This record gives sequence, C-alpha cells and structure tokens, in this order.
Amino acid sequence: ARHDFRVGIPDAALFPFETWRRLMARQLRASAMTAAYMDPSGQPELREAVARHIGVSRGVRADATDVLITHGAQQALDLIGRVLLEPGDCVAVEEPGYPPARLLFQSLGARVVPVPVDAEGLDVSALPDDARLVYVTPSHQFPLGIVMSPARRLALLDWARQRDAVVIEDDYDSEFRFGGRPLETLHGLDRSGRVLYVGSFSKVLLPGLRLGFLVAPPSLQRELRLAKQVADSHSQLPAQAVLARFIDTGLLARHLRKTRREYEHRHARLTEGLTRHFGSGLRLLPSVAGLHLCATFARGGARLEKALTGQARAAGVGVEALSPYFAGAPTRHGWVLGYGALTADGIDEGLRRLRASVAGAL
Ligand SMILES: Cc1ncc(COP(=O)(O)O)c(C=O)c1O
Repeated sequence: ARHDFRVGIPDAALFPFETWRRLMARQLRASAMTAAYMDPSGQPELREAVARHIGVSRGVRADATDVLITHGAQQALDLIGRVLLEPGDCVAVEEPGYPPARLLFQSLGARVVPVPVDAEGLDVSALPDDARLVYVTPSHQFPLGIVMSPARRLALLDWARQRDAVVIEDDYDSEFRFGGRPLETLHGLDRSGRVLYVGSFSKVLLPGLRLGFLVAPPSLQRELRLAKQVADSHSQLPAQAVLARFIDTGLLARHLRKTRREYEHRHARLTEGLTRHFGSGLRLLPSVAGLHLCATFARGGARLEKALTGQARAAGVGVEALSPYFAGAPTRHGWVLGYGALTADGIDEGLRRLRASVAGAL
C-alpha cells in the first residue's frame, strides 16, 4: 500500500546511519576484534550501558550482571521459555495480544491460554490457576495500547506470588511516551524476584539490527546464560560494541529525544485526523505511547471490518484489522494503525483516502 499504516515498525529515515556507520567502521578492525568466542550474556560494556539506560529511561533497577543481551525481544522470550517451560506447561498471554509471543510459547510445547484485556489491562481474575508463565505488555498493551492500572499491576504480582508463577514484562516501545507520568514497571514493583523484564531496540533503532535484552533475577541468570550459549553462543560482537558506544556517548538519548518529538507529532495528527474524519464512528482507545494506536468500530463486527479493510487496501491504504490479533473469537473489531512508516503529512493524506474508501460506512 502507498499509504502504509503498518504496525510495529519505526521510521528508517530517522535512523542515524552516518553515526552508526562511523562507529561500526571502528569496530571492524583487527585491533577491535579477536578470534575468540565472547561471553554468552553479552559484552560487559553493553550490559553496563543497558543497565544504566533502563535505569534512567524506565526506572528499572538492574546491575550489568542482571542484563543478558539477546537478538531482540523475541529471543529473550525464547530463552525464558527454554529455561522455565516443560512441554504441556500453561502460559497465559493477553487477548488480544502479540502473535509472535503466542507462537513462540506454542512452538516450545506450552499450552497457551489467552486471557482477556479490559480497560485496566490483563484481567487477573481470569488467569488460569496453573499458569506457570504470564506474558504481559503493561506499559503499552499490544495491540490495544492500554496502560495496565496500578491496581492491576499489584494484583498480577500478588497472583504470581501465590501461585509461584513467573511474569514476563515486555516493555517493547515505552521509550516513546507522550505525556503523563510513566507508571512504575512490574519489575520495579516486584518484591519476590519473579518478574523478567524484556526490552528491545527494534523500535528505538531498527528491527533489522536484532538487538534486545532481558533483565533476570540472580536465581535464573546462570540457566539463561547457558540457554543463550546453546542457542547461538552469543550476539554479534561489533553490533554490541557499537550500541554500547552509542549509549555511553549520549547519542541514544539524543536520538530518543528527536524521535519521540517526531512520533508525538504523528500520534497527535493521527488522533486528530481520525476524530475529524470518522467522528463517533470510530472509538479511539486511550493511547499515550508507542508507534501505533487502536480504533474500534462503534457499530459493526467482523463483516464490516473485513469489508472496510479490503476497501482501504484497494484504495492504496494499508490498515491492519484488529481481529487477527485475537487467538480466539474476536470481541472487538476495528483497526490498528501504525505511524512509523508515514510522515505527519502522509498521515493526513492517508486518512483522507481512508475516509473516501469507506464512503460513509462508519
Ligand atoms: C509486543 C512486542 N514485543 C516486542 C517487539 C519487538 O520484538 P523484537 O525485539 O524481537 O524485534 C514488538 C515489535 O513489534 C512488539 O510489538
């Protein structure tokens, strides 16, 4: 589609290619590389830098030794699953939720149970009793965009403590927050060492770099390190070194300030435009962060969603239907709209075409 509201990607045009190339060139020298294998947990300077970065940007209290460098959030989930799951174990995920996480746990032989998300986040009272792992996106629920309420956060941690379950907090895009005070992470609220905090540089930098990390309690660090070692020995050395420099020299903070401003601008245009064009026909779910937002149809269900999404595509507007994000029968219908691939002006034009393509059906 020419007007591409694709979900889950940042704008490559904002990436500091020049700087990255310069830092990378410095790494690709005999003096910077050795012929040896490195620490499976990641390069010490990067673990150090990440620990500091998430301390500042997210208030996560972690030492370098608590941080393990991965190939994206996806590998963090894989390592956690390898260490904690036996085939047949129950894993609870959000409904609707992030399909790659669901598929991953299924691929490890887990029984994956979708648990509904309401206006406060995951419905803790609907968790299956035997869930061993609970996967959540509390700071910006994927795909609905809801922020998990403080009460729910405490209820989830309480639930996990009573059942001796482990919580995975996927904080994939919360560096992009547009106002309001961020809530404390589950990791920060946890007093019993049962939250694994997962982060990614896929939104902040680029998904193709495959840079992510996890923060684990001491009791799991050895096993996670071994899991990373058997999976792929360790993440690529030059990229780790470059990212460490990028963080240490303040370039990441600067890049974040710049991109946050830009995405905030796009988020405002999209919110404003959707309201102007569709009025009460679309309900915008509250959204204060990230690179996408979710809008449900005020009237109409699966048939309307399919028809309008198809009409939009035919008119060159790529919008994603909400229902594929459900594992079971969808209970909400609408669109998930990303603004990583469109400039603010592109958003205006895309929305004009979107409205024309649905011709008053909303
Ligand atoms: C919920 C969620 N988690 C994680 C990620 C990033 O995954 P990765 O770091 O594997 O690229 C995304 C990206 O779309 C996401 O939506």
